[in-house]
Amino acid sequence: MRFKSKDLLGIEDLDSQDIELVLSTAGSLREVSEREIKKVPTLRGRTIINLFYEPSTRTRTSFEIAAKRMSADAVNISVSASSAVKGETIKDTAKNLEAMKPDCIVVRHSASGVPHMLADYLKCSVVNAGDGAHEHPSQALLDMFTVKEKKGTIKGLKLAIIGDIGHSRVARSNIYGFTKLGAEVVVAGPPTMMPPGIERLGCRATFSMEDAIADADVIMMLRIQLERQKESFFPTIREYSMLYGLDEAKLKMAKKDVLILHPGPLNRGVEISPAVADGPYSMILDQVTNGVAVRMAIFYLLLGAAKE
Ligand code: CP
Repeated sequence: MRFKSKDLLGIEDLDSQDIELVLSTAGSLREVSEREIKKVPTLRGRTIINLFYEPSTRTRTSFEIAAKRMSADAVNISVSASSAVKGETIKDTAKNLEAMKPDCIVVRHSASGVPHMLADYLKCSVVNAGDGAHEHPSQALLDMFTVKEKKGTIKGLKLAIIGDIGHSRVARSNIYGFTKLGAEVVVAGPPTMMPPGIERLGCRATFSMEDAIADADVIMMLRIQLERQKESFFPTIREYSMLYGLDEAKLKMAKKDVLILHPGPLNRGVEISPAVADGPYSMILDQVTNGVAVRMAIFYLLLGAAKE
């Protein structure tokens, strides 16, 4: 089985079967990273280009490691050292890269919709590694994988997503994904960071963190996306942290076996206390580990499965 589309642009485009296919494929591929020789020949001869117009630690490294563990050739373009700084458009950059015959371009950009535009222009596969405040599909898939691995199922769970909902592509992709798999999703954050009409995506919205995390099975904390804000959305960091930061006292309101997720990077002491980030309920590093398996699965389903 493979994706119906040549691209992975967003969770909105996937149905629950597509999502389950990625999760089960990642489950099969996860053990490759536990081997002494961490490599399978599945994508030998394939070329994958990472084209990141925004900073990244986890996503870019994870896509590169995933490609290499599948034996694909991975090329990282540093945009600050590319001809983009000389005024080349992203379309020209992408067309020139495609002329070198890659099989897939993984793109991150600050503008929503850039991966979709490239997918229309290019014959090779395009994977969205985060577009503006729109979607971050591979992050949501690794989040769902992590929760399903720990809880056995996603159906019937209560997921609370807390923080800067309006600027968060992670929130958007996870609302789509978790609701498609049957979870109840509640989002909470300051009124200034809550986009009107967010409920249309299938979640419930509240300004009360306590309301959202009460009896939650999973709490996903979000960083304040200062890079996407041109004005101040709250009076002080201290006030934000008191109302929307997760510490051990607030954690007691959730279920006893709650899982704490955070896509990273963390702002310790702002949206999450160090004790919670490093505590027994934290899945933050599990998410990063699982990200490699999920991205291997994405490459396999886009580039490799048809050959099997
Ligand atoms: N989760 C995430 O997108 O992290 P990076 O910005 O480090 O890739």
